[in-house]
Amino acid sequence: MRPVFRSVLKGLSVAALALAVTMPVATTETSAQTATAEKKVEKKKKKRDPRAKIYRTKSCMACHGRNGARAIRDYPNLAGQNEKYLKQQMLDIQSGKRVASIEEETGHPRTKGMADVMHLVNKKEIGELAKWLSELPPAKLRPPEEPVSEEQIAAGKKAYKKLGCKACHGKDGTKASNKAYPLIAGQKRAYLINQMTDMREKVRVNGKSKLMYGVIKRAKDDQIAAIADYLSTVERKAKKKKK
Ligand code: HEC
Ligand code: HEC
Repeated sequence: MRPVFRSVLKGLSVAALALAVTMPVATTETSAQTATAEKKVEKKKKKRDPRAKIYRTKSCMACHGRNGARAIRDYPNLAGQNEKYLKQQMLDIQSGKRVASIEEETGHPRTKGMADVMHLVNKKEIGELAKWLSELPPAKLRPPEEPVSEEQIAAGKKAYKKLGCKACHGKDGTKASNKAYPLIAGQKRAYLINQMTDMREKVRVNGKSKLMYGVIKRAKDDQIAAIADYLSTVERKAKKKKK
């Protein structure tokens, strides 16, 4: 919040308090009031989270959106993803191990914009960001730009099962068999298509990508599209906070 606003708000709440004191109803210090006060403290704490500041000031937010849940274009949402996976991907994009196919609009690999800013964060900050992002509530599902038919979703489910994605990504993409593997449910459709295609074409070769090759090489374009339609309609569950 801008300081001017904050002081105006402060002024307002002082006025409200004065009013409350003069009113007879205020004799009972309601639990609602206590709750509001607690909420305010909680909110302030959240604002002060140093990891949120790194995220905001090192330009991550410009592309991945508020709290990692409102990414622009076909860029990935990050909130609620596995910590270990997030960390590895950041390191790999920073070092240039993870690349992507060319983005039409810019003529560059899709990873370039991010690779260009990754000198702004060090390894320690990357670790902190990964933990913070993994604990944030996942992005809400959004209705697709073009409606997806029930048949298409059923086809996606079927292809997912048939190709054996479940072994590593769980029965519907909401679980990973290993903490270093990504959750793929509730991710953006276009992003999912890009990644599956890039791994099939062996453009994406970083990390544990090789584990995908045997399976994804058998996936046809229409199966990849159907799987992406399906997974983008499955909600990713929020993680429990780790201490
Ligand atoms: C200029 C835009 C841009 C900026 C700035 C940016 N990113 Fe990214 N990021 C991307 C794109 C695009 C991808 C996916 C590339 C692809 O399609 O392969 C990505 C991928 C990722 C991934 C991997 C996600 C996955 O599911 O595999 C993580 C983690 C990530 N970014 C974190 C960050 C963090 C943290 C910052 C700030 C330090 C940041 N990014 C800054 C555009 C950006
Ligand atoms: C043997 C294990 C395994 C199987 C089977 C598998 N995957 Fe993966 N998948 C992985 C791993 C590991 C990664 C992360 C690679 C890395 O480290 O960069 C991944 C990454 C992905 C990603 C990119 C996620 C992101 O955020 O960028 C998508 C999408 C994906 N898998 C979809 C699928 C689909 C669909 C299938 C079935 C056709 C499948 N996978 C089968 C292990 C597997």
